[in-house]
Amino acid sequence: MTEKPASEALIKAAFAARENAYAPYSHFKVGAALQAEDGRIFTGCNVENVSYGGTICAERVAATKAISEGCRKFTHLVIASQSNPPSGPCGLCRQFLAEFCDDEFPITLVNTDGARVICRFGDLLPLAFRPAVLLD
Ligand code: THU
Repeated sequence: MTEKPASEALIKAAFAARENAYAPYSHFKVGAALQAEDGRIFTGCNVENVSYGGTICAERVAATKAISEGCRKFTHLVIASQSNPPSGPCGLCRQFLAEFCDDEFPITLVNTDGARVICRFGDLLPLAFRPAVLLD
């Protein structure tokens, strides 16, 4: 892997966001930190709901916070969980992120044991649904 590593600040931000996870049903806490091109960091945690289906993942919380603040360009995403090996984003989040991340976009998966895995977005979602006809 030749991707630029995530900054320690971005990794710290993902773990800090994870502390705010509202996960009374799964007890699986996730934090995400998106590095924006303009230097800002947008964080998110998973927010569960008793309906289960209403649950929002940490990655989509971080992304929607950024978009709603007018930021659409990102350089790195860190996802923090307790999973070993570190957990990747769910399928819905992969599709959601495809809107804002190209195939080379670096994602660092980290866990509470200190493991770190760097991957490219394109490895997580090959042949992503980004039809040119709709993206013009
Ligand atoms: N979760 C995330 O926040 N991100 C993912 O990519 C995978 C799953 C959350 C949703 C739910 O609150 C808990 O983890 C267990 O699925």
